[in-house]
Amino acid sequence: MQKIAVIAGDGIGIDVTTEALKIMRCANEKFRLGLELIEFEYGADYFLKTGVGLPKGQMEDFRSNYAAVYLGALGDPRIPDMRHGREILLALRFDLDLYINLRPVKLLNVRLCPLKGKTKTDIDFVVFRENTEGPYVGAGGFLKKGTPDEVATQEAMHTRKGVERIIRAAFEYARLHRRKRVTMSDKSNVLRYGHDLWQRVFAEVGAEYPEIEKDHYFVDALVMKMVKSPEHFDVIVTENMLGDIITDLGAMLQGGLGMAGSGNIHPGRTSLFEPVHGSAPYMAGQNKANPIAAILTVAMMLDYLGKPNAAEAIEKAVQQAVDECQVTADVGGKLGTRECGDYIVSLLQRLH
Ligand code: NAD
Ligand code: IPM
Ligand code: MN
Repeated sequence: MQKIAVIAGDGIGIDVTTEALKIMRCANEKFRLGLELIEFEYGADYFLKTGVGLPKGQMEDFRSNYAAVYLGALGDPRIPDMRHGREILLALRFDLDLYINLRPVKLLNVRLCPLKGKTKTDIDFVVFRENTEGPYVGAGGFLKKGTPDEVATQEAMHTRKGVERIIRAAFEYARLHRRKRVTMSDKSNVLRYGHDLWQRVFAEVGAEYPEIEKDHYFVDALVMKMVKSPEHFDVIVTENMLGDIITDLGAMLQGGLGMAGSGNIHPGRTSLFEPVHGSAPYMAGQNKANPIAAILTVAMMLDYLGKPNAAEAIEKAVQQAVDECQVTADVGGKLGTRECGDYIVSLLQRLH
């Protein structure tokens, strides 16, 4: 028995997690996965009620007793500084040391691609986003806050160990999945300390993988290339904040944020799975959100948990729904969130 903690969170996180749960339950039964799904109410309402993102001891409970955490999305206009997001999402990433943010960019149908003349084979790469360092560490402060002389600092942290393990993870993935090239992206022409470390470690680690091509783009050139020639990319590895930005663009290449799943992973440990998108408050509760990102995220989680058959079946069901245009309006369909989720469940049930 493996325990999965399910946190729907806020906004459309709740809408899409309802559908993701249907898929989890269906796969659990069909493939006899032996998963125990336990739902938690954490999110904006819980934070506003209790003053904390997670109660004391919860992180330890996740770490010791759960194989994975599944999260819909967080973000609520009543908490403009996103404190609960830091205490739940960023805390999970940091405290569980989930250093790999794996974000695949895969076009499922040419109809969904905003780029002229690009096909399914052109848009198929994965991003390895460093997930525990960079500007996300929360180091900095204010001086003379609120005065005309105010100073604010925000430091980015890059450690040799941290940079090395994410770069190595990207190369190992490329080797295992027979991907031809690993591309590193940074802004080392300007950020001469932190990103210089990235340059040196990429060269050192890359030398251990002679069969894999290596190249490098400054991040401004990388986003240009992602639009002009996405077929160039197999595996992209980059630091935390650049990875955040790159993967929203990546999501658009595959049809939008409603199509992009992701995993926050530390191999062998309790890991966190969530779609790339946020809580999109203005469309919450309206049966409009696309559940596919959340459903593909379930497939990523099952793959991580060593259930590749179930993961593949879910991907196949999603592929069929997309090909038949049995999808939500953001990707050209006419279905609501629930109807799309139900349709994918019905396909999954029928697959053998
Ligand atoms: P967002 O991803 O919530 O939405 C951006 C736009 O993308 C939406 O307006 C919508 O048009 C589209 N979109 C996103 N998901 C969709 C879906 N499933 N189906 C259809 N369309 C979809 O980003 P935002 O508006 O910048 O942020 C809203 C809140 O979410 C903020 O509080 C932000 O901090 C938070 N956020 C949370 C996460 C997370 O929990 N992992 C990720 C990103 C943003
Ligand atoms: C994401 C989100 C988060 C991030 C926010 C909500 C903290 O944008 O998962 O992409 O910046 O990592
Ligand atoms: Mn983001």
